[in-house]
Amino acid sequence: MAESTTAAEPILQVRGLVKHYPLTQGILFRKQVGAVKAVDGVDFDLGAGETLGIVGESGCGKSTVAKMLVNLERPTAGEIRYKGEDVTKLSGRALKAVRRNIQMVFQDPYTSLNPRMTVGDIIGEPYEIHPEVAPKGDRRRQVQDLLDVVGLNPEYINRYPHQFSGGQRQRIGIARGLALRPEIIVADEPVSALDVSVQAQVINLMDRLQSEFALSYVFIAHDLSIVRHISDRVGVMYLGRIVETGRDAEIYDHPTHPYTQALLSAVPVPDPEAREHRERIILSGDVPSPANIPSGCRFRTRCWKAAERCAMEVPLLAVPAEFRYEAGPAAHDSACHFAEEKQVVPPEELPKS
Ligand SMILES: Nc1ncnc2c1ncn2[C@@H]1O[C@H](COP(=O)(O)OP(=O)(O)O)[C@@H](O)[C@H]1O
Ligand code: SF4
Ligand SMILES: [Mg+2]
Repeated sequence: MAESTTAAEPILQVRGLVKHYPLTQGILFRKQVGAVKAVDGVDFDLGAGETLGIVGESGCGKSTVAKMLVNLERPTAGEIRYKGEDVTKLSGRALKAVRRNIQMVFQDPYTSLNPRMTVGDIIGEPYEIHPEVAPKGDRRRQVQDLLDVVGLNPEYINRYPHQFSGGQRQRIGIARGLALRPEIIVADEPVSALDVSVQAQVINLMDRLQSEFALSYVFIAHDLSIVRHISDRVGVMYLGRIVETGRDAEIYDHPTHPYTQALLSAVPVPDPEAREHRERIILSGDVPSPANIPSGCRFRTRCWKAAERCAMEVPLLAVPAEFRYEAGPAAHDSACHFAEEKQVVPPEELPKS
């Protein structure tokens, strides 16, 4: 985990990011009848050398945010500013140069590596697009260095993905993400497909690489316990928006949004006695469809505190009025009309990694 760097100019600033997928009807005359609002107004900053964890249930828009950050999807609206420049407006050579600096590590190391390519070709593939980073004669050596850096034997360079375990495959995915020496890595649930015993090893590797290569991370997970060890700040997403964001300790020990509190109440607690003291918040109902987002607060259909105001008024992501004049840990951004501090799990009981 890096020291806080948010005081400096952020390396990445995301403002009003939106991705709506049109829902159409008709075969001959396609007519738009609605939209899947996968990402519906996301703002965040990423400081140089910092790790921002983004957490939320499946389907809340995390991968769509990740794909827009690395330009695999074009935003419907909003800005992605890299060192002050809006990447969404760039094209051609300027876009290519920025893309080199923002790389992605994918969720599933079983499907994201081409089974017919050798590990050397997989890791070296980005050099085909950016030959200036590694001249042809030097690529093999560079790939072997990368294998070494991620803890794999450089002699494995001619092997195929199926000859590796899940954890090793994700190391290959990470090596590939590093090939162009990016400044930012967007890791989309990089450990979700791995056994619990291997998850910590991969997270520790990413932690080490962060200092070694001065990387900034956007680290996505569906479980708050996974990002705790590595994140400086955390953003909790629900139905296409960030509903609470703050520094690590603010989110884990002083959550004020009912959704974050519910997610924390589901984090596994190893000590049976502590488990008994922990309050379990069970959310009612299913996550609504992103094609049909509830009015007012989008969390209201599952919130145990929902009141009339929640259906009428969209809560903004800001420091809630009741905490605005105190400097304590509850004074962080939370999109709830009735934000209150609630310690869900005794802090010492939360798993540290
Ligand atoms: N290409 C697409 N067309 C239509 N809907 C999509 C597309 N990609 C994702 N979605 C929808 O957008 C929502 C968010 O998806 P995603 O970003 O993958 O969520 P997460 O990564 O948090 O699980 C989901 O409801 C998903 O079905
Ligand atoms: S605004 Fe209302 S519905 Fe939304 S989280 Fe707060 S209390 Fe719940
Ligand atoms: Mg996803």
